[in-house]
Amino acid sequence: MVQTIVILGGAVGGLHIAHALLKKNNKDIKVILVTKNSHFYWNLASVRAIVPNVIPDSEIFRPLSAALSRYPPESYELVIGTATSSDFSSKTVTVSLSSDAEPSSTRTLTYDHLVLATGARYADASTPWKADSSYEAVLSALHNTQSLASKAQHIVVAGAGATGIEVAGELGYEWGKTKEIVLLSAGSSLLGGDMVGPAAANELKKLNVSIKYDSRVVGSAKLDSGKTEIRLENGETIATDLYLATTGMVPNSEYVDARHLDADKKTVLVDEYLRVANVEGNNVWAVGDVVSKPRAGFMITQKQAASVAKNLELALAGKAPVVAKGPPVDILGCSVGRGRGAGRMNNFKLPSFGVWLAKGRTLGVQMVPGYIDGSVA
Ligand SMILES: Cc1cc2nc3c(=O)[nH]c(=O)nc-3n(C[C@H](O)[C@H](O)[C@H](O)COP(=O)(O)OP(=O)(O)OC[C@H]3O[C@@H](n4cnc5c(N)ncnc54)[C@H](O)[C@@H]3O)c2cc1C
Ligand SMILES: *[C@@H]1O[C@H](CO)[C@@H](O)[C@H](O)[C@H]1NC(C)=O
Repeated sequence: MVQTIVILGGAVGGLHIAHALLKKNNKDIKVILVTKNSHFYWNLASVRAIVPNVIPDSEIFRPLSAALSRYPPESYELVIGTATSSDFSSKTVTVSLSSDAEPSSTRTLTYDHLVLATGARYADASTPWKADSSYEAVLSALHNTQSLASKAQHIVVAGAGATGIEVAGELGYEWGKTKEIVLLSAGSSLLGGDMVGPAAANELKKLNVSIKYDSRVVGSAKLDSGKTEIRLENGETIATDLYLATTGMVPNSEYVDARHLDADKKTVLVDEYLRVANVEGNNVWAVGDVVSKPRAGFMITQKQAASVAKNLELALAGKAPVVAKGPPVDILGCSVGRGRGAGRMNNFKLPSFGVWLAKGRTLGVQMVPGYIDGSVA
């Protein structure tokens, strides 16, 4: 009998698992990939794509239909929509469809196994850092940011995590001599005190980016002049032409019952096999930023996707799952502009050139074809 595997989320986690399952050409399974965005978005390069004419849209947005059309039509279905609720005891997920023809229709999908790969978004929905809305909306957020950045004389980037550092670095590389670029850090260092912080700060200074420490943003408002006023925790205000927030990751887990979620963080709770906690039947799995364990990261997501694909195959064959393994080394690399970077491998500092070579040169764009032809899985 054909078993249905519903995968929620069509980014690096969900698409990887879809490929891994479909490549086996197992006639006894059907994969339904449900996702908000009709495209696979290489969001790791979004930090550079906000500078106009550096990365073509077509290199970082690829239709998911192109990824799946290589498989027999009866083996899969691509559903563009948002999972809005789930019932793990009746094994159903309700999806609000985003087709133009039926704007407000919903569909209830029944599954044998369910995979949660809906990731996490940034609190400010106008930023293009994630594919957390429709293709049209993310593309327009990207183009809008490009045009505002070109016109701005003063740009403030908030959040001194990897994304904030990379955004400030790209802006500094392009415009450090002609525009004022400011990076706000909530704490007294970059990257929350990680050993890479000082090296990243040093690279940003070379690009004429100014860093303001102990500057936690508590609010922002549009002024009549068109500028944005940013309010800091210490009472200070900053008026800027463009405010780019990289703060506040929110797991896309609203459709999951609270007893499967961390009470504070709202991330999905999983066991060592990446099965969602408190599910009778153990047929719900989760990977990537919606889990954020040990943290939100691409390489961690990729490893988890490979483990879940393997465990699904074992489960379908009536076998026991294997413990999910993380990446062999902990790598933290920040690209800082188009020429340099800062990073570490475990506790070893990596040279700027090494980070540039491994990451900053391309920001991984060369990996996109593998997600389309399936060779990644
Ligand atoms: C600018 C930037 C740079 C980064 N650089 C690095 C790096 O260098 N190294 C590294 O390790 N990590 C990096 N990361 C982190 C990396 O991008 C994430 O770990 C990775 O994208 C997680 O993938 P994911 O599949 O879990 O989900 P996400 O990328 O968060 O995508 C979630 C998917 O689910 C869909 N979705 C959301 N809600 C629903 C719903 N309710 N129903 C249906 N579909 C839904 C979305 O449309 C999207 O397709 C970076 C992140 C950013 C923002
Ligand atoms: C650094 O940026 C400021 C604007 O913030 C500019 O006036 C100055 O000339 C820049 N310095 C260099 C060396 O590019």
